[in-house]
Amino acid sequence: MNLTVKKLILATAVVFSAASLFAQSFTEAQISGKIKEKLAQMTLEEKIGMLHANGIFTSAGVARLGIPDLNSDDGPLGVREDVKPNWASAGLTTDSATFFPNGSALAATWNPALANRFGIAMGEEARARKKDIMLAPAFNITRTPLNGRTYEYYSEDPFLNAQLAVATVKGIQSQNVAACIKHYAVNNQEVDRNGVSVDLSERALREIYLPAFKAAVEEGNAWVLMSAYNKVRGEYMSENNYMLNTILKGEWKFKGLVMSDWGGTHNTINAANYGLDIEMGSRQPYNTNYFADPLLAAVKAGKVTESTIDDKVSRILWVMYHTSLSANPPAGKLNTPEHSKTVYDVASEAIVLLKNSANMLPLNTSKYKSIAIIGDNATQTFHLGGFGAGVKAKYEVTALQGLKNHIGNKIDLKFAQGYKADYKNNYPAARKEAANKPNAGLIQQAVDAAKSSDAAIVFIGGNREYETESADRKTLELPFGEQELVDAVTAANPNTIVVVVGGAPYDLGKIKQNNNTIVWSWYNGSENGNALADVLTGKINPSGKMPFTFPVKLDDSPAHALKTYPGENHKAEYKEGILVGYRWFDTKKIEPMYPFGYGLSYTNFKYAALHANKAIYKPGDKVIATLKLKNTGKFTGKEVVQLYVTKQVSKVERADKELKAFKKVAVPAGKEITVTLNLNINDLAYYDEADKKWVVEPGKYKLLVGSSSRDIRGEAEITVK
Ligand code: BGC
Repeated sequence: MNLTVKKLILATAVVFSAASLFAQSFTEAQISGKIKEKLAQMTLEEKIGMLHANGIFTSAGVARLGIPDLNSDDGPLGVREDVKPNWASAGLTTDSATFFPNGSALAATWNPALANRFGIAMGEEARARKKDIMLAPAFNITRTPLNGRTYEYYSEDPFLNAQLAVATVKGIQSQNVAACIKHYAVNNQEVDRNGVSVDLSERALREIYLPAFKAAVEEGNAWVLMSAYNKVRGEYMSENNYMLNTILKGEWKFKGLVMSDWGGTHNTINAANYGLDIEMGSRQPYNTNYFADPLLAAVKAGKVTESTIDDKVSRILWVMYHTSLSANPPAGKLNTPEHSKTVYDVASEAIVLLKNSANMLPLNTSKYKSIAIIGDNATQTFHLGGFGAGVKAKYEVTALQGLKNHIGNKIDLKFAQGYKADYKNNYPAARKEAANKPNAGLIQQAVDAAKSSDAAIVFIGGNREYETESADRKTLELPFGEQELVDAVTAANPNTIVVVVGGAPYDLGKIKQNNNTIVWSWYNGSENGNALADVLTGKINPSGKMPFTFPVKLDDSPAHALKTYPGENHKAEYKEGILVGYRWFDTKKIEPMYPFGYGLSYTNFKYAALHANKAIYKPGDKVIATLKLKNTGKFTGKEVVQLYVTKQVSKVERADKELKAFKKVAVPAGKEITVTLNLNINDLAYYDEADKKWVVEPGKYKLLVGSSSRDIRGEAEITVK
């Protein structure tokens, strides 16, 4: 090839790649030009038509101007099946999708890179299903373990939540699908969720409840946000001027659109003026919605200005130019092997090994000829159930199926149901109560199976009817007579492994005391059983860490200790302030059942001394903290190295310690690696209520590094000047 030809090819390639780059997305300047152009051609009626639902998951476009309807869908367990105008299934055969592990499972991976893959896969599925907005991720703080949505949300820690939220949002939006972060904000209980008004200190709001939302907006650049059902300081979140206009759109410069939760709008004028952009819900006829005819009337009466309406329409169009109207949106992908691999990786990194004191795990598969597989949760699926969003899973491998796939050819697996969860979220209270009675006949069958087997694995825990949106649990007790089942099976065969399936803390006190082998699994997605089998048999070394504290008893938890849950007369005063989760347990020196960040491995990690790169820092600096970490066991494994910070002398109240950095690392058996953790000095700031600003207090801080919040292995002191 001569030089001129080469040059020509090169030049053409440059032109092509520049053109394809250009075709991928419009610039912000181009987008604002397009928005202005559309707005100028729209009638007031057409604009108002875009501001409220016109279907269960849609709001209208303007066909004559080429503006499509806006399509959203739940989230967060995967792309929900399509529904008819009355919420009934649309009966399609094309809308089954991948079932993604629940929110607290994702949080238990402590792996933002995985959260990003999770987001990309979910975004691809949403794109393939022609959805512009994924109603996910959801990440309110776990304030009480009873919250019915604990399984949907991430954790009790704002830093962990923020890391995962940013990664997930970026993943979803990489597919030209908007992430809708929800439910903004301080949405921490389902009891009285449409009536409760939360009263909390500004410090708690800023330091605990808002950081993940702030990060998802400022770093994740989330395009859509859903306002929560509850009130904050007396105002519904869908009409909360301070939370929507002052903080979200003002301080954080949120450019996207705010949609109400379904049926979470209560007023026309206040909602319109105080920051809501689209009213969603299924109250029909839709023209009677607050943001339909009444809004048109309010504009005509001069109560809401047309420029306020224009701002809302502009925000919607802005989201469209990043999604459905973006220059070159990808086609999307549904139910691919890559998506299965992603949910398998999340599921297997989420599983938490709680106890292994007899080294029963990983299972020695040549030692056992027969294993009794016991419990309803061994054969349950979790993609649907309860109130709220599920997914019509293309497939879901149950625990029993997973074990059969992996060891069924060499070990005789005898299933016994043990208990039957006859429980629906909408059953009357008496019937729900009755479901907790142990079933003597099923327990006897389980005992027989356990006695005649070399070992037993008992699957207990919750399910999607028992942990659900719209209801909080009443207690932490194990339901459905599960404790009696575990006791009977363990007595029949001491080689018993307990696998608890759930998305929120339960009372495992007796099991922790009496049983030697406990594994925690989740509503763990399409690959549930395969991931679990690989963890039990040692193909995967468990690396999940608890994203919330398990209290010994409910009253040890702050909201319950201070009797501020669920509130009185529709008021919940968050008297614990910033002391939420481990911040409370550690500061008050209350021993938890399992601490935040806890989880065992089949190997051991030895932490060498922690070093900070300097002794003295100033605001804006970055601390580079390093340590050597050695895998001293026989199994390659992953460890979540957690960095907490404590300030012992301070002019304001401080939690005993706070998570400020973490890193999940893989270490081969017998090898030592160097772990580097970056910490921003600005992240040490507290929110000064009087001055309304973040303040980095000068003085000494201790950096604590450990394997959980209660297993600190090293420390270093730094000074901030
Ligand atoms: C839930 C939201 C969900 C919406 C639409 C509401 O009940 O709170 O999380 O996105 O329904 O299904």
